[in-house]
Amino acid sequence: MKKILTVVGARPQFIKAAVVSRALRGASWANEVIVHTGQHYDPDMSDVFFSEMDIPKPAHNLEIGSGNHGAQTGRMMQAIEEVCLTEKPECVLVYGDTNSTLAGALVAAKLHIPVAHVEAGLRSFNKQMPEEINRICTDHVSDLLFAPTETARKNLLREGFSDAKIALSGDVMLDAALFYGERITSDYLKTIGVEPQGYVLATIHRAENTDSPERLATILDALAEISKRIPVILPLHPRTRKLLEQRSWSNPRPQDLRIINPIGYLQMVCLEKNCHMIATDSGGVQKEAYFFQKPCITLRDETEWVELVDAGYNRLVGANSDAILAAHHAFTSQRPVFSGNLYGTGSAGKFITDKLRLFLQENLGHG
Ligand code: UD1
Ligand code: UDP
Repeated sequence: MKKILTVVGARPQFIKAAVVSRALRGASWANEVIVHTGQHYDPDMSDVFFSEMDIPKPAHNLEIGSGNHGAQTGRMMQAIEEVCLTEKPECVLVYGDTNSTLAGALVAAKLHIPVAHVEAGLRSFNKQMPEEINRICTDHVSDLLFAPTETARKNLLREGFSDAKIALSGDVMLDAALFYGERITSDYLKTIGVEPQGYVLATIHRAENTDSPERLATILDALAEISKRIPVILPLHPRTRKLLEQRSWSNPRPQDLRIINPIGYLQMVCLEKNCHMIATDSGGVQKEAYFFQKPCITLRDETEWVELVDAGYNRLVGANSDAILAAHHAFTSQRPVFSGNLYGTGSAGKFITDKLRLFLQENLGHG
């Protein structure tokens, strides 16, 4: 048996890890040990995913919590190092681009434990984003790079990575959307009182939007404007909610901009599958829009998921009110025709598991 130590900590990582963890549980050679850094800790940002997606309870919860980047990442590294020294894994598996990803990768690399990075090679080419720093550093200390798209693979090749380290895996979020998407009903729509195709779904949490009062106010005003025509459902990330509370923002408008608490993945997929359109600054939600064939207005100045923009499924509008409203109008009058397999076929979890097995056999010998 090979011991794989999976480090997760933030909402999108639970969703991605759910897929690979299920595949690893089906592999007789693998023993997965899950470490939760505690970066996300509210029940609706953490526990709900473990219970509804059948993710095994983490063997270690480091309970690091929130903090500035240096303090949070540093505390994670200290605690992950202790776990690695005790568990002695053959490989550390990290996902995406959060501080938990970086902490897990750096600790493992320094202990000479091979690092496998799922969602490698993504680039926004904007180093103001903490995620961009996390991705670049994580890729550069990783031994096995699972690129979800051809664009990601090319980014890695351009940075000088050997092709032998890169595996084009497809995107595990497609596996999740297919697997769980089949299992949900539309009952949740009744609970929140919306009709199929009768609302826009929105999310906002990205630092560049929330930390700028002007950008956040502009986006919310534009969503409120849209809500004069069609209800807008906004499950709000705690980061955004706290900042709005600090700024004493209230939603005084009579329009139908409905702010709700973060929801579980199954409820989210239900809203995505049935909505008219999506407006988001999330990475994962942009792809889910495509999986469920919904036009996506991306509330950012750039995206790592460039193939969606190139295909006309996604419009980058930044925090520009006119551009947000124009994109909503354009997508309402003419919906894109969705096609292709931009993110693979939904078998990334199995691919990653098989590749990990080969990698560990070649690097560590049989056993
Ligand atoms: C993090 C990731 C981001 C990812 C996002 C997914 C980094 C640098 N950023 O951003 O890439 O897109 O997760 O959701 O790792 N908070 C709570 N309860 C929680 C979690 C957070 O109240 O359970 C609040 C705290 O005030 C905290 C703030 O949200 O300070 C930000 O949380 P943090 O994990 O630092 O960053 P995210 O914005 O969630
Ligand atoms: N998500 C969710 N509930 C919510 C908002 C998002 O389950 O209230 C899911 C969403 O469907 C996607 C993932 O969380 O699978 C995206 O995470 P997030 O937007 O927090 O981070 P990002 O992908 O931008 O890093």
